[in-house]
Amino acid sequence: MADSRKILITSALPYINGVKHLGNLAGSMLPADVYARVMRLMGHEALYICATDEHGTPAELAAQEAGMSVQEYCDEQYEVQRAAGEGFALSYDWFGRSSRPANHALTQQFAHALEAAGLIEERVSQQVYSIDDGRFLPDRYVEGTCPHCGFEKARGDQCDNCGRLLDPTDLKDPYSAVSGSKAVEVRDTRHLFLLQSQMQDRIRDWVEASDDWPQLAKSIALKWLDEGLRDRAITRDLSWGVPVTSPDGSPRPGFEDKVFYVWFDAPIEYIAATQEWAASIDNDDAWKGFWRTDEGADETEYVQFMGKDNVAFHTVSFPATLLGSGQPWKTVDKLKAFNWITWYGGKFSTSQKRGVFMNQALDLLPADYWRWYLTANAPEGSDAAFTWEGFQAAVNSDLANVLGNFVNRITKYCASKFDGVVPDGGEPGEAEAWMAQELKTRLAALSDHYEKMEFRKAAAETRAIWAAGNEYLTKAEPWVKYKTDKDAAASGVRTGLNLAALFGVIAQPIIPGAAAKILDALNIPETNRTWPGAEDTGLMDALPRGLEITPPNVLFQKIEDDEVTEWTDTFGGEEV
Ligand code: 2FM
Ligand code: ZN
Repeated sequence: MADSRKILITSALPYINGVKHLGNLAGSMLPADVYARVMRLMGHEALYICATDEHGTPAELAAQEAGMSVQEYCDEQYEVQRAAGEGFALSYDWFGRSSRPANHALTQQFAHALEAAGLIEERVSQQVYSIDDGRFLPDRYVEGTCPHCGFEKARGDQCDNCGRLLDPTDLKDPYSAVSGSKAVEVRDTRHLFLLQSQMQDRIRDWVEASDDWPQLAKSIALKWLDEGLRDRAITRDLSWGVPVTSPDGSPRPGFEDKVFYVWFDAPIEYIAATQEWAASIDNDDAWKGFWRTDEGADETEYVQFMGKDNVAFHTVSFPATLLGSGQPWKTVDKLKAFNWITWYGGKFSTSQKRGVFMNQALDLLPADYWRWYLTANAPEGSDAAFTWEGFQAAVNSDLANVLGNFVNRITKYCASKFDGVVPDGGEPGEAEAWMAQELKTRLAALSDHYEKMEFRKAAAETRAIWAAGNEYLTKAEPWVKYKTDKDAAASGVRTGLNLAALFGVIAQPIIPGAAAKILDALNIPETNRTWPGAEDTGLMDALPRGLEITPPNVLFQKIEDDEVTEWTDTFGGEEV
């Protein structure tokens, strides 16, 4: 076992408005969880932190639509998202909320530090103001016609039709998203600006020095830097969010009706949530070893997971906050970005009933089934399409036929012919030598894929190891040998049971529920469920002879064609 490492893992914080769909899960929280599980199994100290991202106009508008106060709405939706995460077995060490006091305090402290470093300036800018609503209309509060493509329902911050980022004052024929009123005008308003242009060189040096980032993340970061960093407003004319304060904690004069911009406070929540985790384990300072380089965090590896739309915020804006503060904060070491999971090549859409959302998925099938398919088809090199047919094939073939069948066959045979105990007798022969060689190369490759955060390859290698087990049984034929040579049969069954245990161990990161069933059935104690080392040669004879085992109940139910038809009707399928 390599030396134990200290690893901080964060996945992009899901917006509070609405349960996330499978595409969101597949591009941030699920791979972060798989990675955290592998690292823990390898004996490393991995801390996985996530939270809900609760500020900004989407939360306010969704609350308004639900007829609730923003606080009530967020309280309710936090519970829904927490439960969905639990249902999917996401092994967060802490799942926080960006609206909690720790994040408010830390966000305000960062702003004070940045201002003291000369990187924040008050500037007057122009914002859309609604005369009927008596308020400014930041970001999504204003809608209108996109100046680029003519789409008539473009939002103030982005056009959903052409995808371009917008400024609310860019919109043609703007109207209020609150009341629909067209009585709007552009007025002056005062905001705090973060002077990112002054940090261009520092951030470029830092990005260029980060040689551990996968390609997608680095190319996006460099593209932004090549375009030149712009100073940007980090406050908004809103009431829900982190209030803007003076260093003494009092409201900042002129900013009493303003809050920080959601993208300023959201990444700071990674730190604040870690502080809350520390408090929850009664060790208030424990967060520092992950975040303060003067308190041990320089020894920590920090790994972030996110969709590609979030990369600029994590490679430019958040680092500008951390580096600009002049304080010894930990910055990301490895950043894994994902493309999109599409729904048959198109967008997920609640209104058009296209796609499955996290809570609906669990009403259909256990978490493991989704976790397997979404990991094996992770949108790494390009976008990846969810299809019911692909899902059915992955579950029926990989899980039911390859893994389920192997475990079922060998444990049932052991129960019927060897009294349900790991048999003694017999010696390894040619088939065992072949399998040992397979394991040697394939387990090393599997660990390597995980180290490199290549999840598709990791799932494919896992499946290949399970498939090799089936091939081993075909070669060893304990059921044929039993008739003439019980010792040879015993050796085959013993090896098969050891393989079943190993297959359960390597299944844990992706399908933790089924893996636990296999390992429980084989009576493997928790302490023996750790990741196999590449140099480990005893894997095929690790179970004590005489150990009692019980065949598990059916591990995976196959997905029938009529279920695919039914789900296609309910959740949509191929676009016509
Ligand atoms: O794009 C999103 O879903 C954002 N809520 C991600 C925030 S990540 C972090 F920085 F908080
Ligand atoms: Zn447009």
